[in-house]
Amino acid sequence: MPSPANQLAQFSESVIRGMTRLANQHDAINLSQGFPDFDPPEEILSALETATRGPHHQYAVTWGAPRFRQALAKKINRNTGLSIDPDQHLVVTCGSTEAMMVAMMTACNPGDKVIVFSPFYENYAADAILSGAEPIYVPLHAPDFGYDREELAKAFEQKPKAIIVCNPSNPTGKVFTREELSEILALAEQHDAYVITDEPYEHIVYPPHVHTYAASLPGALDRVITCNSLSKTYSITGWRLGYVLASAAVIAQARKVHDFLTVGAAAPLQEAAVAGLELPDSYYAELQTLYTKKRDVFIDYLRRTRLPFTEPQGAYYVMVDISSLGFPNDTQAAEWFVKTVGVAGVPGSSFFRDPEHRFIRFHFAKKEETLHAAGKRLLNLIQK
Ligand SMILES: Cc1ncc(COP(=O)(O)O)c(C=O)c1O
Repeated sequence: MPSPANQLAQFSESVIRGMTRLANQHDAINLSQGFPDFDPPEEILSALETATRGPHHQYAVTWGAPRFRQALAKKINRNTGLSIDPDQHLVVTCGSTEAMMVAMMTACNPGDKVIVFSPFYENYAADAILSGAEPIYVPLHAPDFGYDREELAKAFEQKPKAIIVCNPSNPTGKVFTREELSEILALAEQHDAYVITDEPYEHIVYPPHVHTYAASLPGALDRVITCNSLSKTYSITGWRLGYVLASAAVIAQARKVHDFLTVGAAAPLQEAAVAGLELPDSYYAELQTLYTKKRDVFIDYLRRTRLPFTEPQGAYYVMVDISSLGFPNDTQAAEWFVKTVGVAGVPGSSFFRDPEHRFIRFHFAKKEETLHAAGKRLLNLIQK
């Protein structure tokens, strides 16, 4: 039998998605893969019913249905202060997952280097390898997961083509400040690199932290390639809707990559999701309140377990330090959590470049009753 491509040996199947399968097998409460167990907004659901009866069952325009792009541009302009053109600055993709792949393939030639902060969302290393690029890792240091300016500047000296910034960050919950993003942008300018951001948690940020759109910094639109998604903001991870936002010159190239990767995102779902994009500002304020409550409920249980953790500033994940439980590594700990405690998390090592077995990542995008049930199971840890 012919051998498959060599590059595939460089990464494994997703550990996150694997933990979901293990959780289902053992009937554990699944706090591993980040998706909600509650419904999307009613407005979106009823728009979906209407869309199924409309004329939207064939291919949409490959870079995004016009109504969807127009509604998206309006929302982006309102949030960022930019004045982007829906016909020039956007490509609608199958989630931020495809957006990231499109961004990487648009920015990088085979052999180019790309800076990735570690810990990182596990797709980034695979994205880099699949697009022929070589990741250079810069650590985010626990417990606050900040970066060291010297280490970052040193990485830029290796002449990377791009840096990936996940903001708010999965898995750490870090929200990059305006100052940090300006510093990253200045280094990227100095070394003529792209800044590729992944921002699906733009609306899930805990006060007093605020989300800064890197693309909205002065003069940034020519350099920043923003990847984003509707998955988390509207609780529609299964709809697979995302987008790339960038300068017209970058988008002209990104459209080609996207067209040949997937042709386009699902036409009826783009139509229905317009109802989400048109929701008033109060929706986003309520979403923030909802997630702040969920975070507080969950971390209160964590506090009672006395396991150290880093309080998330944004997104809906928390890295918990399980080293005191005495397992040889985090993978064995995560299996024990599923099989014995009945709560699934993700072994933290899957997010780090270097061997790091101190953490398990849990997410709290669940109904409060689910979080209470999981929290009560976690309290059994105190007896361990
Ligand atoms: C940082 C980050 N980027 C991208 C994704 C995937 O997003 P999408 O559903 O839009 O593909 C996730 C999902 O967990 C994520 O956490």
